[in-house]
Amino acid sequence: MKRDNFKIAVFAGDGIGPEIMKEALKILKIISDKKKIKLQLGEGLVGGCAYDRFGVPLPDPSLALARKSDAVLLGAVGGPKWESLDYSVRPERALMGLRRELDIFANLRPIVVFDELLDASPLKKNIVRGIDIMIIRELTGDVYFGKPRGVKKGKDGKRRGVNTMAYSEDEIRRIAIRAFEIARARKKNLFSVDKANILESTELWRDVVTEVGRSYSDITLKHMYVDNCALQLIRNPAQFDVIVTTNLFGDILSDEAAMLTGSIGMLPSASLGDKTALYEPIHGSAPDIAGKNIANPLATILSVALMLRYSLSLPREADLIEEAVGETLKAGFRTRDIYQKNKKLVGTEEMGNVVAKKLCKLIN
Ligand code: IPM
Ligand code: MG
Repeated sequence: MKRDNFKIAVFAGDGIGPEIMKEALKILKIISDKKKIKLQLGEGLVGGCAYDRFGVPLPDPSLALARKSDAVLLGAVGGPKWESLDYSVRPERALMGLRRELDIFANLRPIVVFDELLDASPLKKNIVRGIDIMIIRELTGDVYFGKPRGVKKGKDGKRRGVNTMAYSEDEIRRIAIRAFEIARARKKNLFSVDKANILESTELWRDVVTEVGRSYSDITLKHMYVDNCALQLIRNPAQFDVIVTTNLFGDILSDEAAMLTGSIGMLPSASLGDKTALYEPIHGSAPDIAGKNIANPLATILSVALMLRYSLSLPREADLIEEAVGETLKAGFRTRDIYQKNKKLVGTEEMGNVVAKKLCKLIN
């Protein structure tokens, strides 16, 4: 039976977080009203705002709320106010804590170039037209969490910094399975990216992905070294459908790929685990423009679409939100970050309202 009742944790965070979240929740409400789905939204503090109140970026009540939710919707965290804090209580640590504690190991970063924003890309139009790549980044292993780590003074009195790049075969297998499943629902074309010519942990990565691939004979699997992938993303991005890669390589390649679209303000993400999932825009908290009603809410709105698709089993409604965003752009509405001459400059709230109106029309 289809579920009609979900618990969603809402963490607006810092900077522009609260403004963009407000617009995303508007869109979510339209869907829940129309589909008669009961959503229990629980708000919590994470990031700098949580530090100000509790002295830690990920307080226990917020983590508990996330744990008992079907999905977490997050705005953005961080800002100059907290940059001088000790590393262990910086706002970004909340993201690491959520990733580890919720075991959300599969980070999906769709890179889609909207036709209407082709001019925003720094690359030639014929290279980026129609780009639709799904980057799947492993999110709970690798140097981000490997031990030992830290900076220590040696016997010679000199400091030495250490991080450990490590993957177990189980960690690789579960992300590989997700990647093959996602590739199956797309163009069945999967690139696994590693540095197996020099790093043993990713030699294992390549072996395990190849093993998993034996059960997916309908998917074309190719392996690529990360340095070559960085080059190919600029040279010929159209060759990519789904990319699966390690935590650190995925961090870097997804920022690079984001620039194909020209505007990081448009890109959503999903981080999936076996029990829950977290949805957030790829961009940061943009403290310089916070509170001015000029931030672009579209990446957060598109994150809601991903939540409907992957956590709420509403793929049709997810498509409709993406369509509504496309129509909004087609109609010429632009926030400042994606503004082009002769288009209609709108603020955060108006952008949300236009998408909401388009969505209402599409849904009826
Ligand atoms: C990302 C970010 C984070 C990461 C930072 C803020 C810790 O760059 O989500 O890509 O490196 O994972
Ligand atoms: Mg990053």
